[in-house]
Amino acid sequence: MQIKNICCIGAGYVGGPTMAVIALKCPQIKVTVVDANKEKIKSWNGPLKSLPVYEPGLMEVVKEARGRNLFFSEDIAGNIENSEMIFMAVNTPTKKEGDGAGMAADLSFVESCAKDIAKFSRSDKIVIEKSTLPVRTAEKIKEILKENSKNIHFEILSNPEFLAEGTAINDLFKSNRVLIGGDDTKTGKKAIKKLVEIYSNWIPKEKILTTNVWSSELAKLASNAMLAQRISSINSLSALCQKTGANIGELSIAIGSDQRIGPHFLQPSVGFGGSCFQKDILNLVYLCKNYGLNEVAEYWHQVIKINNHQRDRFARKIIKHFDENLKGKKIAILGWAFKERTNDSRESSSIYICKKLLKNGAELFIHDPNLSFEKVIEDIDQHRFSNDELVKDVNPLDFNKISEYNLEGIVLMNNEHLYLNFDWKKLDLDNILFFDGRNGLKDHEIPNHICL
Ligand code: NAD
Ligand code: UGA
Repeated sequence: MQIKNICCIGAGYVGGPTMAVIALKCPQIKVTVVDANKEKIKSWNGPLKSLPVYEPGLMEVVKEARGRNLFFSEDIAGNIENSEMIFMAVNTPTKKEGDGAGMAADLSFVESCAKDIAKFSRSDKIVIEKSTLPVRTAEKIKEILKENSKNIHFEILSNPEFLAEGTAINDLFKSNRVLIGGDDTKTGKKAIKKLVEIYSNWIPKEKILTTNVWSSELAKLASNAMLAQRISSINSLSALCQKTGANIGELSIAIGSDQRIGPHFLQPSVGFGGSCFQKDILNLVYLCKNYGLNEVAEYWHQVIKINNHQRDRFARKIIKHFDENLKGKKIAILGWAFKERTNDSRESSSIYICKKLLKNGAELFIHDPNLSFEKVIEDIDQHRFSNDELVKDVNPLDFNKISEYNLEGIVLMNNEHLYLNFDWKKLDLDNILFFDGRNGLKDHEIPNHICL
């Protein structure tokens, strides 16, 4: 089977950028990204400045490949039928109800994809798990494909995605590794080879790791858990620093300078956010419990508990500095997305911290250069932490006019360049408490600078 057509189901933060890069690097292959959300497909086909995903470098890649061999389409059935290889890059959020609610991954989107693939396929396909999935999901997918189709051979591969938002394009161009899991059978090996060939167009062969399916599925959950664990470790130590007079920034450098430990993912913060760390660790905890590994489950659960504790601790710190009463206090929140250089606010610590500040009576002025104020309000509504009265206390902030708001507090929530490179001396900060949730401005001379 020659791979001439690829279909990717799911045009989100993973499906969009990964397929754009595959199309760019493999001009000989037609890549079509489909999605059940028609509005999203419209935006992917619309002006480059308003693509549904904001990622540095993405616009340029889409500009070059779109209409050449990269397409975005609503036609799920037709594109499944016409493709030899199908990626599933749909969302796998934490289950909201039923068995495992609040912990297990909701696989309904993946299952519905598998049903569509079975229903619309007329020839053999290689089906690829791009979404992050619990270990042994491929078994379930295989069953669904078998039950819903006739005389068609589906080979399932696991090819988890390791990109981070804000650096996705660079991560895809220069992946640390590409992981491909497949069955140790003749057809399994053939399918792995086909996918290796695709990545080999730009990734050096030694960086393409092939494993069995279960190792590949689990490696993705484990990688995210290990990264998040480092953040919780450093954040837990920031609490001890506060009590002892040690400095968490200095501690982070001292620890990270040991080559065996390394400096990455040791930046103290208001807690990690993003759509994946929390859901993937909860999923890992659920899996461990399911296999009767209660101590292992508890070990990983602690990573989430420390993250929640860090958010609480930071919010408490702000409230305490205002003598436990934020009524009528005007506070600027800089950064709504869960990190810099993205328009994604899923599970952002800003949401949780603002909730606590609003409950304590604060009047908030929120800014983020990468997402709209409408998105802020949408998040607030979605998290149902507000009644109308609280939403009334949420306002947009024009960063260029920050001096005009009579602020009593400024809270730095993410490391956006705009905030880090701003000349804070231009503002009269003498009567403003500056809460630095990233220790990002430690080199600026800021009076009343309150770090983690
Ligand atoms: P997303 O919510 O941005 O995109 C998922 C898309 O799938 C949505 O547009 C949705 O409409 C579509 N969809 C869902 N069910 C569908 C169906 N049956 N048919 C057609 N379209 C359907 O999600 P995402 O952030 O791109 O994440 C996707 C997966 O990749 C998740 O499993 C996630 O854990 C994993 N992942 C995400 C990142 C990241 O940075 N966001 C990185 C690595 C891995
Ligand atoms: C993370 C992983 O880094 C990716 O490898 C993975 O593919 C992805 O999750 C996923 O599966 O979704 P992402 O969440 O996009 O990527 O961004 P990160 O850079 O990992 O940051 C996550 C959160 O941790 C952010 O809120 C960030 O500010 C915070 N963080 C990061 C810290 O608080 N300290 C650090 O030292 C690093």
